Amino acid sequence: MKILMVCLGNICRSPIAEGILRKKISENLLGWTVDSCGTANYHVGMPPDDRMIKEGKENNIDISNLRARQFIKKDLDNFDVIYVMDESNYIHLQKLYGEETNFNKVQILLKEDPSSKLINVPDPYYGDSQDFKEVFNLLNKHLDLVISKLDEKR
Ligand code: 4NP
Repeated sequence: MKILMVCLGNICRSPIAEGILRKKISENLLGWTVDSCGTANYHVGMPPDDRMIKEGKENNIDISNLRARQFIKKDLDNFDVIYVMDESNYIHLQKLYGEETNFNKVQILLKEDPSSKLINVPDPYYGDSQDFKEVFNLLNKHLDLVISKLDEKR
């Protein structure tokens, strides 16, 4: 199973989602791979936001070696499932690649959980450390469910 996590800049939400998921995959001995990218090119080549690196470290997850990249069309072939963090990410990719047969791999992450009140993982970029913590906790909780769903599908 190859999983891709997508947000806007690939410096806040998707890199920590990648780090959290990688840890859970390893703990559950699943042998899956995970990567992340952004729909935008603003931060290509840059490490994650310092505030998210810090939040990861506090939870024993090191994302400091990750570097931002932009989504490419080939990602639709290279990954089995592609999770976007919010509806605007989805619409962005839909405009570019909505006609592709494998566009159905693209899913809005929180929609995997019918009980979730939120649809979008909030963008913490213009927020404070509490916002980063909340994103971490939301993703940490939600990604357990994602792991069990994907495990059933295998
Ligand atoms: P991300 O957060 O999509 O979670 O990586 C953002 C990072 C940068 C910007 C917006 C959101 N930006 O506008 O530069």
